[in-house]
Amino acid sequence: MELLGMTTVFLLICISCLLLVATWRNISQNGKQPPGPFALPLAGNILQLNPKNLPESMKKLSEKYGPVFTIHLGPQKVVVLYGYDVVKEALIDQADDFSGRGNLPLFKRVFKGTSILSSNGETWKQLRRFALTTLRDFGMGKRSIEERIQEEAHFLVERIRNTHEKPFNPGGFLTHAVSNIICSVVFGDRFDYEDKKFLTLINLLDENTKYQGAIQTQLYNFFPTLMGFLPGPHQKMMKNVDETDKFILEITAQHKETRDPSCPRDFIDAFLNKMDQKGNGHSVFTVESLTTSTLDLFLAGTGTTSTTLRHALLILQKYPEIQEKVQKEIDRVIGRDRSPCMADRSQMPYTDAVIHEIQRFIDLIPLNVPRAVIKDIKFRNYFIPKDTMIFPLLTPILHDSKEFPNPEKFDPGHFLNANGTFKKSDFFMPFSAGKRICAGEGLARMELFIFLTSILQNFTLKPVVDHKKIDITPLITSVANMPRPYEVSFVPR
Ligand code: HEM
Ligand SMILES: *[C@@H]1O[C@H](CO)[C@@H](O)[C@H](O)[C@H]1NC(C)=O
Repeated sequence: MELLGMTTVFLLICISCLLLVATWRNISQNGKQPPGPFALPLAGNILQLNPKNLPESMKKLSEKYGPVFTIHLGPQKVVVLYGYDVVKEALIDQADDFSGRGNLPLFKRVFKGTSILSSNGETWKQLRRFALTTLRDFGMGKRSIEERIQEEAHFLVERIRNTHEKPFNPGGFLTHAVSNIICSVVFGDRFDYEDKKFLTLINLLDENTKYQGAIQTQLYNFFPTLMGFLPGPHQKMMKNVDETDKFILEITAQHKETRDPSCPRDFIDAFLNKMDQKGNGHSVFTVESLTTSTLDLFLAGTGTTSTTLRHALLILQKYPEIQEKVQKEIDRVIGRDRSPCMADRSQMPYTDAVIHEIQRFIDLIPLNVPRAVIKDIKFRNYFIPKDTMIFPLLTPILHDSKEFPNPEKFDPGHFLNANGTFKKSDFFMPFSAGKRICAGEGLARMELFIFLTSILQNFTLKPVVDHKKIDITPLITSVANMPRPYEVSFVPR
């Protein structure tokens, strides 16, 4: 009893001190910070935030506090931007101020702050510029990225043909195909689907997708020091990351032996060339940033694109009439005898609208990837101190009911004019916006278009259940919205 009393008094004193500090900081920093619910010390807003459905919790908070509000994920303070107007004002109109990356502890451990996705300042500027140049369509090597995707789509179609209309879960095939594009860009060549090394690499990535969702991994973000000592899936994840690093280092070593600096074959060769140009002192192009940036391309580029395709094949089963219209357009513009290419897209407004609508509807990364402000700034009369983490949410933009009437319904009409031409929308932001907009946007859109049209050029998707019963609403998680598991049969056309 005595002990309990002492603990309570101690806790009360702690809370009062924290409150005092919080108030003092708000007053002293000449300007008020965005409003938000009262945060418990250490636990933050655990009472207001449902870790299983953060997007929904955010919606509730925005109804109470408006489009700019503050929350605490554990001890981590985050300013949330809710809705198109504020996100545009921040990421586009005040682009420089908001160009920082907010690194949760897990990110720091995996990417070490030295990759494109996770770095800041000069390192980020140089790595990003380099990645954009090498990822450009006519990047490097003998073949353009477009040709590499066409080739892979061909292998994918043949692999599907070999299933002879037997229903199966297409997830694995899609991951292999998408991942091979990154392999081709980074390592210079695709892998055979049965290649042992390739399957090991994919397995490491797959496992980590699982470990990412574990509660221990989430807790690592809140209490990194403590969790660093405890066993669990988060430790396996870090071991896998180290394993992947080793894999990349091995391939890098082989590249060093076989490369010709005047003729870079791939991302790694181009990076090694950059490392040669020492010049002005300390370079951001190091062995470490090479491995973390390569890991970036795998982690950011494989799951996102293949999951989008997995959603797409489910949605198209649900709406056979939409599938048929896409196939008619493919037959009219491309025919059956040659591979789809990017030049076809401008003549295919319906297909283009369907792909946009898929990305809008599934809202793949609802919370976006955390940003940070790079200095003390003023935003809509609020004061936001340097390094504050920012969540520029994507759900409220992609599901804005004024821009996209009936936003919870899948309707390609959201991207079509009355006369059937493609209708652009500034609210189409699945890749975010501003200075840190997805560095793989061009590549991802090329993959989505070529893989989808190649599949529908050759097959009709046949569901194993009544198509009206298919549930296309995503399974919500805090990181990525996943499709419900399904099997499908591919009927040759
Ligand atoms: C459908 C597929 C994809 C979606 C929906 C997607 C979405 C995103 C989003 C929302 C961000 C955060 C941007 C921000 O901070 O504002 C991002 C960043 C990034 N993405 Fe993607 N992405 C996709 C595919 C890819 C691919 C294929 C690659 C690789 C080639 C890639 C590489 C990156 C990189 C490197 C960043 C970090 C950019 C930076 O911090 O400067 N992404 N992506
Ligand atoms: C179709 O409609 C849009 C918007 O209503 C218009 O901008 C466009 O010029 C029209 N195109 C054709 C070919 O009629």
